[in-house]
Amino acid sequence: MSHEAQPAVGRGKVILLGEHFVVYGVEALAAGIDRGVEAVARPAERTSLRVAPWGTAHTGEGDEDLDRALAAVLPEGGPPLRIDATVALPAGAGLGCSAALGVAVVRAIAAHRGEAPTDAEVAERALAWERVFHGNPSGIDNTMAAHGGVALYQKGEPLVPIPTRGRLRLVIGNSGESASTKEMVASVARQRGRDEARFAKTCEAVTSLVRNARLAIEAGDAHGLGRLMDLNQHLLSGLMLSTPRLEEMIGAAREAGATGAKLTGSGGGGCMIAVVEDEATGARVREAIEAMGAEAFVAEAGR
Ligand code: MEV
Repeated sequence: MSHEAQPAVGRGKVILLGEHFVVYGVEALAAGIDRGVEAVARPAERTSLRVAPWGTAHTGEGDEDLDRALAAVLPEGGPPLRIDATVALPAGAGLGCSAALGVAVVRAIAAHRGEAPTDAEVAERALAWERVFHGNPSGIDNTMAAHGGVALYQKGEPLVPIPTRGRLRLVIGNSGESASTKEMVASVARQRGRDEARFAKTCEAVTSLVRNARLAIEAGDAHGLGRLMDLNQHLLSGLMLSTPRLEEMIGAAREAGATGAKLTGSGGGGCMIAVVEDEATGARVREAIEAMGAEAFVAEAGR
């Protein structure tokens, strides 16, 4: 083939409601965002993965996480490939950066081999990549990185796309504090182990928040969705997943007119999200977060 290969894409995502509990089989709502990772695979003498702008190179034979993740998705006995990836997401910030990278790499390898896997097959292959980083991932990040859109995810079940009435407007703010998903998931597991009955009750509460949030999204009700996200944030803080910085950013977003706000992803730092009703409020909320010295951007999801 003489033409230059089109980059393969993996999307970033935000979890609207249900992170952490999704690991234990609870439904969660998530949205793909229009930022992510692009990757291209070309024939080479030795296999390598180069990631910009991190400037790292991996062969799949070393003992760093990215080497092991690459080894987990390389087809057995395949020819050597040079894979170049470009990451446009903050890492360790709850936006599914590692999954987006895994999905882009899986798609780039498949495209190079002339395969056309479905989104579900891509997500499945990328789960092996995610396991290297997260130990016990629910599968939500790799699934959303492959599918995009707004969707209801439950472990082991097919993804349910959720039709939105208009586009869902979100402001995403990065606390700049980075946290390991693996450690945050392990911390929740320890707390669950100390009081399983209480944890089960919280799972029930989150299930009902998620189901109501689905209805709010389908009805285009930003106020209802915002209130449910606030309640979800309360439960996440109860598991010590929030931080003073995230709380301040969430407070600033609500004060600037967001209908609701919460942390997103693993917590312990990383990003918060806020729902807004219109473009002008989105701009005000973004400015309020930026005024705290944090990076923020507006994202739209759904149809
Ligand atoms: C991380 O983006 C989401 C968590 O629920 C972990 C997982 O689902 O694997 C914290």
